[in-house]
Amino acid sequence: KSPDYAEMFRAHDLLQKFYHHLLVNTKEGTVATKYLQQRGFTEEVINRFKIGYAPNTWDVASRFLEKRGFNLHEMAKAGLIVRKDSDGTYFDRFRDRIMFPIWDNQGRTIAFGGRILYEGEPKYLNSPETKIFNKSKTLYGLHLARPEIRKKQQVILFEGYVDVIAAHRAGVENGVASLGTSLTDEQANIIRRNAENVTICYDSDSAGINAAYRAASVLTNAGCTVRVSKMPEGFDPDDYIRTYGYESFQNNVIGTSLTLMAFKIEFLRRGKNLQDEGELVAYIEEVLKEISLLPKAVERDRYLRALSEEFSISLDALKSEQYQIYRKLR
Ligand code: CTP
Ligand code: MN
Ligand code: MN
Ligand code: MN
Ligand code: MN
Repeated sequence: KSPDYAEMFRAHDLLQKFYHHLLVNTKEGTVATKYLQQRGFTEEVINRFKIGYAPNTWDVASRFLEKRGFNLHEMAKAGLIVRKDSDGTYFDRFRDRIMFPIWDNQGRTIAFGGRILYEGEPKYLNSPETKIFNKSKTLYGLHLARPEIRKKQQVILFEGYVDVIAAHRAGVENGVASLGTSLTDEQANIIRRNAENVTICYDSDSAGINAAYRAASVLTNAGCTVRVSKMPEGFDPDDYIRTYGYESFQNNVIGTSLTLMAFKIEFLRRGKNLQDEGELVAYIEEVLKEISLLPKAVERDRYLRALSEEFSISLDALKSEQYQIYRKLR
């Protein structure tokens, strides 16, 4: 690869160390440290995830990089600083933000996610895509999680950086995050190469639940066996852990995840009034369609029986309906 790749990696590495140093060792970092402490970040996770702080100035990073001989034009292409069109000068992309380094599979820093302290917009400012950062092929935390993923033969998929880190604190160390975007085929293939079993643990709000439904199908297509974990409405894994603790997270969220089919049944039920005849019929049609997609007759039979019992519909009627749907789908 051309030398500018090497320079980009080196710049990310040095800047990551610099931001971490500013967080941990300097007076400018104390407000950020306090924020992290309030959110339950321990010294151990701050070190393990190499979290840093970009201070509230316009030129700390550009001066740091310039002093070390980096070409600022290249650094702008690397997404670390921004070129001002009016006069061609450069300013820092990340200011007054908690810095989460993002790594490639080998653990090289290739980008940053920057979180604002407390409230404000945008909450997260991320590096743009560059020659070394392809967002759709990156999973946050993968190289750190890999040993545990291999050991457990399972990946836990989160939405956010903070969820991966909070789970890690809770002893769940096989977590990765999809970087806020909807899960891509490439990301799913990377997951599949590391383990077959995936538990989706997205935020329990509408956006997260809808994203989980989509991610489940992307993962299934990649050959993964998917489960989906459940949390009280409105919580994300980090919120849950801070409210209910480590043990409850392990036992009641990760440990009692739903099979994909059970999740889909709940998902299809959301927002429907099953007392209404029309909505009930529509719901049953949708469930039958999902049942038709199950490869094993025994499994199909089990869900048909459950449906029959719950809504007092004859099993024969459900079976013939399901068969028609199956023929249409083929
Ligand atoms: N995200 C992003 N840009 C935003 C909002 C979110 O890139 N403006 C991405 C981040 O990777 C973030 C993930 O989407 O980690 C999940 O978003 P959200 O649930 O809103 O954030 P949290 O991870 O819950 O962050 P926090 O707990 O710090 O609020
Ligand atoms: Mn350290
Ligand atoms: Mn969310
Ligand atoms: Mn969240
Ligand atoms: Mn959160």
